[in-house]
Amino acid sequence: HRQWPGLIEAYRDRLPVGDDWRVVTLLEGGTPLIAAPHLSEITDCEVYLKVEGLNPTGSFKDRGMTMAVSTAVNNGKTAVLCASTGNTSASAAAYATRAGITCAVLIPEGKIAMGKLAQAVMHGAKIIQVQGNFDDCLELARKATAEFGEIELVNSVNPSRIEGQKTAAFEIVDVLGRAPDVHALPVGNAGNITAYWKGYTEYHRDGVSSTLPRMLGVQAAGAAPLVNGAPVKEPETIATAIRIGSPASWNQAVAAKDESSGQFRAATDEKLLEAYRLIAGREGVFVEPASAAGVAGLLAARADGWVAAGSTVVCTVTGNGLKDPDTALAGMPEVEAIPVDPVAVADALGVR
Ligand code: F0G
Repeated sequence: HRQWPGLIEAYRDRLPVGDDWRVVTLLEGGTPLIAAPHLSEITDCEVYLKVEGLNPTGSFKDRGMTMAVSTAVNNGKTAVLCASTGNTSASAAAYATRAGITCAVLIPEGKIAMGKLAQAVMHGAKIIQVQGNFDDCLELARKATAEFGEIELVNSVNPSRIEGQKTAAFEIVDVLGRAPDVHALPVGNAGNITAYWKGYTEYHRDGVSSTLPRMLGVQAAGAAPLVNGAPVKEPETIATAIRIGSPASWNQAVAAKDESSGQFRAATDEKLLEAYRLIAGREGVFVEPASAAGVAGLLAARADGWVAAGSTVVCTVTGNGLKDPDTALAGMPEVEAIPVDPVAVADALGVR
């Protein structure tokens, strides 16, 4: 088998990429669509996980970043800037390094998961902590890039980010042979739901898929502006990736919901953590807390009948669980070490 060539090569005819471009890639995309037998059983549906944590930097952001950084470089930009709850900064840092340009990231002070910070550090990004939340960081990034033209803003307000991320919908249809009935995913700044809907509608328009999914966008209850219908001033959730009160792609997310006969839902931190543990503990897939939102939303939507039995459902799990070891290990009881002795192992296992 030839190796997966990266999403720009795989979908070049559907992306705004010049023939003579230098493509900045880490061979992102081509992620597995894994059947979820336990979720399928408890929902009486056919459930799949689109495992985006298997991208090069461990999140779906790499799909947008290969496009955004390639576009920036081919337009002569020498630096990229983003606001981030962590994953965008990790991805921007890696792709900027690959391109040989500078990367600076604005992150909310003390509110990003450890693994993501480690990535930005290791890829050599200029890390700027801001006394504010993600929404403050994004406003700052927009102002800074508007003033200094040589710096490219690589948040999902950059249209090339959406172009790259729409390829996840292509991949799903390419595997299933059609669109799922329902597509569930977490929503923070709302770029990804925008991108998926663009991908699905383009494939539908061109006859590649005869159907469209209903989009189920799931927010954390403490950061659920789209569910409330109004921005949230002080968003709060354990799922720091989606701790966002004023999504930039608000209108596009509402359009995706309305045009698809979809729904926005909120999941409490308790429900998010339940789904987080279920995906790891029952399906063998370790995702970060925010990434469990789609599954939490599916369980609730199935319970109240919005999702019918027998539906084919894809849940995008957006980021790798290794990014946030603190949440994984929180509340783990202290366990005493045993002596180097097989009997002690048997005792510990309760088989003696
Ligand atoms: N899941 C994860 C793991 C994320 O990191 C994000 C967004 C989302 C879901 C939501 O996607 O913003 O397109 O609606 N993370 C951004 C960041 C904000 O800075 O890494 P969205």
